[in-house]
This record gives sequence, structure tokens and C-alpha cells, in this order.
Amino acid sequence: MGGRFLVTGGAGYVGSHLVRALRARGDRCTVLDNLSTGHRAAVPDGVALAEIDLADRAAVDKILADGPWDGVFHFAALSLVGDSMRDPMGYFAANAGNSAGLIDACIRHDVKKLVFSSTAALFGLPERLPIAEDDRIDPGSPYGESKFMVERMLAWADRVHGLRYAALRYFNAAGADPDGALGEDHRPETHLIPLAIDAALGRRPPLAVFGTDYPTPDGTCIRDYVHVSDLATAHLAAFDQLDRASVTYNLGSEAGHSVHEVLASVARVGGCKVPHTLAPRRPGDPAVLVAASARIRAACGWTPRFTALDDIVATAWAWRNAHPSGYDGG
Ligand code: UFG
Repeated sequence: MGGRFLVTGGAGYVGSHLVRALRARGDRCTVLDNLSTGHRAAVPDGVALAEIDLADRAAVDKILADGPWDGVFHFAALSLVGDSMRDPMGYFAANAGNSAGLIDACIRHDVKKLVFSSTAALFGLPERLPIAEDDRIDPGSPYGESKFMVERMLAWADRVHGLRYAALRYFNAAGADPDGALGEDHRPETHLIPLAIDAALGRRPPLAVFGTDYPTPDGTCIRDYVHVSDLATAHLAAFDQLDRASVTYNLGSEAGHSVHEVLASVARVGGCKVPHTLAPRRPGDPAVLVAASARIRAACGWTPRFTALDDIVATAWAWRNAHPSGYDGG
């Protein structure tokens, strides 16, 4: 028989793909989401949606009390680096403060395992590449800092209360469920691949390439794009080993692609050009972010199914093409 899980932020981009992966292996889940950025339509029939804000401690307590839960997957957070530079305290309250409340409720209601959605943004400007888990942490934004704060809270929750956790640091989540049921629908959209696709489809103005003078072969930033369904399977693999010890993993594909390479991929997949302009750098963007993910590969046998950028982009293209209005179109 499968387990029973609470998924905070389960109506969002990565969280919804995890819910799908849990159900595919026979687990039951409840989604906790305030729908501020998540979508009701991303929660499948048969999955309970508790429309709760994590700041509502009484409501969070009530749902944790309704156990037993085999584990909690914690995605709910604000996730825009630029916004966090404008409103640091809002980010600390939403990401760190609300997580403290959730972790506290987990401890009081005897939840033994939690998987946390962390970020590569806590590395700031990396000292070396690819980035390994124990490399220097130096968040370049309140967003990255807020996620690191939660990692530290979890380390103490384990040490003092025995709460086992997996902290999973995503690099650039990309793509969409290959069956076409789920996809990326951020409002506003700020991410490169969906913006490039919409520019190619003529639904947006030409894409602005942020910075062409980076110390990279073609002058544009290099990122490690990892398929969102592979992120979901990494969550399951990490959860399954929490009986042994808490873990921290970088989740990437170990391959870097420049902005120009991503635009070329979108053009190949779509069979059309991606209209774009060359623009100044976006403040805070490091030149290169690529993960070393040997640790999770060795410990869990996790290997990404999507290794070619064109295959990742193809799933994103299929979703954007079929859902011009995102989840509003059903
Ligand atoms: N970019 C453009 N034009 C755009 C949008 C993006 O040139 O219109 C460039 C960015 O400058 C960057 C690259 O495309 O070089 C990827 O940008 P995204 O906004 O898609 O992603 P980021 O790398 O900025 O950030 C993502 C997540 C963060 C996470 C980070 C970790 O959004 O939450 O990956 O690698 F912290």
C-alpha cells in the first residue's frame, strides 16, 4: 500500500509534477496551496486541495493534526530573485517564517520526514564549476538566503527533534510533463524557455537576451536546465532513503547551455526563428551555474531521463502550444 503525503505548493510548477509522480506510484496526497501562484487546474481529480496560506498557523496545525502523514513535501514559497531584492523582509517572512511554522507543526504532530525545495541561488557567485553540495554558500539575494535559512532550520530540527529531511537544490527547472497534463504557467513569466517559446509563437514581443558580455564562449549566461519530471523523481528517490539519514543534494543535469544555445534549441524544436534583441545584463545574474550532481546519482541511483536540451524544450513547446492561456484554457 502506498503512503499518504502532504504537498505544500502542490498546485505550482514543480509541486504539481511531484504530485503526479506520487500518484503514479500509488501514493495518496493532499495539496496545501494558497493559490497565489499555483493553479487549481494543476491539482488532479482525486487529490484534495486545502486552500490554506502557510502563514495561517492554526490552519496548518489543523491539517498536520489530521495524520498520520508519511511525509511532507514542502514547495510553497515565493521564488523570484528580483522581487526578493525589492522586498527582502517579505521574502524572509514568507519563505523562512512560514517554513518555521510548518516545521514546528510537523514536529508536534510526529511527522518524521520532510523533503524541502531548495535552490542553486544559495550559491551566489560560484567559486568553481560544476557546483558541489559542500561548495561555499553565499546567497546573492534574499530569495537564496531565505532558502538557506530553511536548510539551517531543518538541520536543527533533525539534531534536536530527529526530523529527517532532504534539501534539494534545483538548478533551472524546465520542461513540462511529457503526457501534456501539466506545464509551466508563471504570472508574470520571467523564465527563459517559456518566454522564448512565446516569442517564437508571436505571442510576446521579441525576447530580450540579458547580457552578451559575460566571460562565456558566446558571451551569454550559461545555466543547467533540468527537466521538471526528473526533479519529481529525484524527490521520490531522496525521500526513500530518509530512513538512513538526512541529505542535501544538488539537482541538475551537469550540462550547461548558454542563452543563445537555448534560443537555437527553441528554433530547432519549433521550426521557426526566435525573435530577440540584445539587452544589458540583468542585475544579479551569475555568468555560469552548473550543478555537480554526483552525490544523488551515487546515493540514490537517480539519473535524469531527459538529458538533451532539445528534448526538454520539446515538452515545454508542446505544453505552451496546446495551452496558449496556461491553465486558464483547461
Ligand atoms: N534570460 C534572458 N532573457 C529573459 C529571461 C532570462 O536572457 O527574458 C536569461 C537570464 O539572464 C539567465 C537565463 O536566461 O541567464 C535563465 O534565466 P531564468 O530567469 O530562466 O532562470 P534563472 O537562472 O535566473 O533562475 C532560475 C530560477 C531561480 C533559481 C535559479 C538557480 O528561477 O529560482 O534558476 O539556477 F534560483
